Amino acid sequence: MQDESVITNYHLEDDQLMDNTIRPESIDEYIGQEDVKENIRIFVEAAKMRNEPLDHVLLYGPPGLGKTTLAFIIAHELGTNIKTASGPSIEKSGDLAAILSSLEPGDVLFIDEIHRMPRYIEEILYPAMEDFSLDIIVGSEGNSRNIKIDLPPFTLVGATTRAGDLSAPLRDRFGITSKLQFYTVEELTDIIKRTARVLDVEIADEAACELAKRSRGTPRIANRLFKRVRDFALVKGNGKVDLAITEEALDRLKVDKLGLDNTDHELLLAIIEKFNGGPVGVEALSSSIGEEVTTIEDVYEPYLLQTGLLKRTSRGRIATDKAYQVLGIEKQ
Ligand SMILES: Nc1ncnc2c1ncn2[C@@H]1O[C@H](COP(=O)(O)OP(=O)(O)O)[C@@H](O)[C@H]1O
Ligand SMILES: [Mg+2]
Repeated sequence: MQDESVITNYHLEDDQLMDNTIRPESIDEYIGQEDVKENIRIFVEAAKMRNEPLDHVLLYGPPGLGKTTLAFIIAHELGTNIKTASGPSIEKSGDLAAILSSLEPGDVLFIDEIHRMPRYIEEILYPAMEDFSLDIIVGSEGNSRNIKIDLPPFTLVGATTRAGDLSAPLRDRFGITSKLQFYTVEELTDIIKRTARVLDVEIADEAACELAKRSRGTPRIANRLFKRVRDFALVKGNGKVDLAITEEALDRLKVDKLGLDNTDHELLLAIIEKFNGGPVGVEALSSSIGEEVTTIEDVYEPYLLQTGLLKRTSRGRIATDKAYQVLGIEKQ
């Protein structure tokens, strides 16, 4: 047992280490998301010219599309420090008050998974975002009073996989809202080539393109698959990542030609075989395949919807004709 956990820890650190080395630092290194980048460039420039903090920014989109990376880039472009926190880890109002009062003028405060912050904590953010002030209650029951503390001007960058879960008052306090899109195959090819360059691995163009096609439009998946393929190339070849090694590795990892993995297949198969192609509610699907509703909605569905394999209707999810084709199942 002990050995196993040591190994897991090692891999985790290894992954994080790689994440930090390959994460683009400046906006020019950040590939794709042209509209988002253009807006951020302009707003950052304007904030610097006015010598004011950048307006608060909300970034949303499925996991792995580059929200955290962009938050760090915003701080880099502003030339300020960044402090990070995540919604679920802020449990008490005091936690947030402590983070807010530690900010220096112009700092970026990045709150990941901001939709998972409890509502009563969220309310502390309203005056902080609006007037840079912290309203806290001190003293005990019967003898408590409100005090107001001035905060330095700062920029809140919030990231979320579900903008719909954010309360309206919080959402309205972000001056800039950017939705990240799935990446094109060309953009992912560039990202993979960049990662290969940074990690000093040789990769053939066709191999990078094949990896890109199978990465579900998502840089995190592209980098993760690249890493696995790199291992294959090292052990089974001469270290160079070519098309044959890439295809062999991806087939072994059970990533299909469209980038769908086992869970995607299970999800589509369940709709087709157990629910007659749909419509089926997400709760029924969830218990059928044993994945959480939020995982299905945040991680799996966005890409299946984007590729036209799944449709959402008012009565539930349905598998499209394309899904039948891809799975090689004849529609009854
Ligand atoms: N536009 C991009 N260009 C290059 N690499 C990117 C880009 N977006 C994301 N990545 C890479 O993908 C990985 C996941 O990005 P991350 O910012 O952690 O996603 P999110 O926070 O949206 O889940 C990072 O390690 C980063 O190196
Ligand atoms: Mg993130």
